[in-house]
Amino acid sequence: MPEPTLQNIVDQKELKWIFVGGKGGVGKTTTSSSLAVALAESGTRNRVLIISTDPAHNLSDAFRQKFTKTPTLVNGFTNLFAMEVDPQPDMGEMEQLEWAQDSFLTELAGSIPGIDEAMSFAEVMKQVQTMDYDTIVFDTAPTGHTLRLLNFPTILEKGLSKLVALKGAMGGMMGQMTRMLGGMAGGGEAAADLPDQLLGKVEGMLDVVRKVSAQFKDPLLTTFVAVCIPEFLSLYETERLVQELAKFEIDCRNIVINQIIFPESVGGSRLLDARVRMQQKYLDQFYELYEDFHILQLPLLEEEVRGPEALKAFAVNLLKPYVPSPPADAAAREAALVAEVAALKKRVAELEAAALAVKK
Ligand SMILES: Nc1ncnc2c1ncn2[C@@H]1O[C@H](COP(=O)(O)OP(=O)(O)OP(=O)(O)O)[C@@H](O)[C@H]1O
Ligand SMILES: [Mg+2]
Repeated sequence: MPEPTLQNIVDQKELKWIFVGGKGGVGKTTTSSSLAVALAESGTRNRVLIISTDPAHNLSDAFRQKFTKTPTLVNGFTNLFAMEVDPQPDMGEMEQLEWAQDSFLTELAGSIPGIDEAMSFAEVMKQVQTMDYDTIVFDTAPTGHTLRLLNFPTILEKGLSKLVALKGAMGGMMGQMTRMLGGMAGGGEAAADLPDQLLGKVEGMLDVVRKVSAQFKDPLLTTFVAVCIPEFLSLYETERLVQELAKFEIDCRNIVINQIIFPESVGGSRLLDARVRMQQKYLDQFYELYEDFHILQLPLLEEEVRGPEALKAFAVNLLKPYVPSPPADAAAREAALVAEVAALKKRVAELEAAALAVKK
C-alpha cells in the first residue's frame, strides 16, 4: 500500500502545478494551505505560490491575511506567496486583459460559451508562468467548477482555432475593404495590417494554452489532490472526480480524507461512537476502491484551522500519519496517579528520615 502521507508530493521537486479539490466544505482550503506551508518549509522549494480560483475566496480567512490579485508574501514566511484570482472577471476587468483590448476579438470570443472565463484563467497562467515560482498550489472551487477549469485548455483550443479560421475567412474581405478605403482616403497601411495583428494575438494565446495543457497532462509536472470526508456523498463525488480526471489525463494519486473522528476521542459519547463506526465503514470503502492511492487521514479538530501557526501545526499531519493522543480524561487520570505516587514517595522518604532521627 502506498505511504499514507503527502510526502511523495514534497519529494517530487519538479512538480509545478498542484490542484487541490473536492466537494464544498470538506477542507480544500485547509488542505491546500497547509500543503503550501509544508512545501515552503520543506527546503525543497525556493518559492511557493498558492492561488485560490474559488469565487468565494477563503485563503484570506485561512491565513488571517488579506490577499489580492497580485502575489503577496504570507506573514510568517519568506518563500510562501498567496493570490486570489477571479475566474469570472467583470467586463471592466476583461477590457484590461491584453487579448481583450481588441473589440473585434472580444465580440467574437463572446460568442463561444465559457471562453471568457477560460481566457482569464489562461491570462493568469501566462502571468504566473513568467514569475519565478517552483510550485503553484491551487485551492480550487467545489468540484464541478474545477473540472470546468481543467477543461479550459480544450475549450480555448477549440474556441481560438475557430477564431483563427474565422479570421482567415474574413481576412481577405477585410483586406479588400481596407484597401478600398485606403485607396480612397489615402494611406490605409496600418488598417490593412489589422487582421494579421489579431491573428498573431490569437495564435500567441493558443501557444500559451497548448503549453499549459501539455503541462497539466504531464504527471511529472502536475498532480491533483482529492479532498473528501468519510461520508457516502463524498465517496461518491470523489469517484466521479477521479474518473473525470482520468478522462482529462490529469494525474491523481493522493486522496486526503479529512474530518476523521478517532475512537480515542469518543469518550463515552454514543453519538460520537456511532459517527466513528459510520466513518469506518466509508474508510474501508475508500481503501478498497483506491488501493494504489496515497490515502491520508486527517483528524477532525475541536477548533477551526485558522492562522499561520494553526496551519503549520496542521501541516505536520500531511507528512506524518496522525496518531491520536489518549482521551483527555485518561491522560488526566494518569497524570493524577503519577502525582499521587510522587507524593507518596516523598512521604515515605520523610517518614524514613524521621524514623532515622528517632533511632539516633
Ligand atoms: N480537520 C479539521 N478540523 C477542524 N476544523 C476543520 C478541519 N478541516 C477544516 N476545518 C474547518 O472547516 C471549515 C471549512 O474548511 P475549508 O475552508 O478548508 O473547506 P473548503 O473545502 O475549502 O470549503 P469551501 O468549499 O467553502 O471552499 C474551516 O473553518 C476550517 O477551518
Ligand atoms: Mg475553500
